[in-house]
Amino acid sequence: MLAIGWIVFPIVLYKTEPQPFNFSHKIHAGEQLGMACEDCHKIASDGRFLALPPISKCAECHASQIGQNPNEKILVDKYIVSNREIPWHGYMRQPDNAYFSHASHVIVGKMKCEDCHGRIGSSDSLRTYSVNRISGYSRDIWGLNIPGFRVHPWEGMNMDRCIHCHAERGRRDGCIQCHK
Ligand code: HEC
Ligand code: HEC
Ligand code: HEC
Ligand code: HEC
Ligand code: HEC
Repeated sequence: MLAIGWIVFPIVLYKTEPQPFNFSHKIHAGEQLGMACEDCHKIASDGRFLALPPISKCAECHASQIGQNPNEKILVDKYIVSNREIPWHGYMRQPDNAYFSHASHVIVGKMKCEDCHGRIGSSDSLRTYSVNRISGYSRDIWGLNIPGFRVHPWEGMNMDRCIHCHAERGRRDGCIQCHK
């Protein structure tokens, strides 16, 4: 029973959905191009987080294909030419009933992207995105392990995790702070 619970259950519970194409942070934000994170993930002056860049940002450089990379070909042929937004799957996207502000954490709380997201910013490829068949939430909300054990401090972003970190820093929020 334990083996079934441990191995089979996660396979049944989650299904994977491919990202539209692979994207390398290493090429764009690493030494090769040296773009700043804010070039694509900006916090506007009114505090709104403009999570993912619009297609016009990519078109600044990819109006036509620069190299031979097959992912770039998909970007240009499928999205830039027809001016369509790319339907990325956000790994940590929260349900609509939870309110999260990047400005509070990154600017006021002075936290680093890695504290919550891990090393996506220096990665060469996007991880597999999987979604819970029952709740429809990304697997990253609960964390990779069903029992809840974490290998890295940034795994999982469910309500317990939010409240736990807030408690560590002496914040006790009412439900209404996060559920507006
Ligand atoms: C050229 C634009 C660009 C730059 C520069 C860039 N990113 Fe990204 N980033 C993207 C795109 C496109 C995605 C969408 C892939 C996805 O759905 O995760 C993404 C996704 C992410 C995510 C995943 C969010 C989630 O939960 O899905 C994180 C975290 C992230 N970037 C951090 C960074 C950091 C840190 C830097 C600076 C070191 C950076 N990015 C620089 C374009 C960029
Ligand atoms: C400042 C210019 C610039 C911007 C803005 C930019 N790119 Fe790129 N991108 C490049 C260059 C240069 C390469 C390397 C081309 C090569 O040598 O194959 C590249 C390579 C790529 C590749 C192929 C390598 C890989 O990542 O697997 C993809 C896909 C890609 N870019 C997607 C995007 C997307 C999506 C955006 C918008 C969020 C974007 N780029 C914005 C300059 C840019
Ligand atoms: C306190 C933890 C925390 C920190 C620090 C943090 N994030 Fe996030 N990030 C989140 C959560 C939670 C979400 C989901 C928000 C939502 O769905 O409303 C998110 C969503 C995102 C997304 C959007 C993906 C999508 O679903 O559209 C991007 C991109 C991103 N973060 C990048 C960054 C970058 C870049 C930094 C550093 C400047 C950063 N984050 C710092 C927790 C954090
Ligand atoms: C790793 C630590 C950490 C995690 C994880 C975290 N937070 Fe926070 N959060 C903070 C800190 C620190 C502040 C206080 C910033 C300040 O006001 O100094 C804060 C502030 C807030 C505020 C108050 C904003 C304001 O302007 O008063 C809200 C709402 C909030 N967090 C929601 C969330 C939600 C929702 C999640 C989970 C999805 C989450 N946080 C995860 C550390 C964290
Ligand atoms: C620090 C932020 C925070 C606080 C405070 C908070 N929540 Fe949540 N809550 C979340 C986040 C983020 C989620 C979505 C992720 C998840 O399901 O764990 C959530 C999910 C939930 C859910 C599950 C709904 C669903 O869609 O899965 C319930 C019920 C809930 N919260 C009730 C409460 C109640 C009652 C309180 C007050 C005692 C409270 N929450 C306080 C952040 C918070």
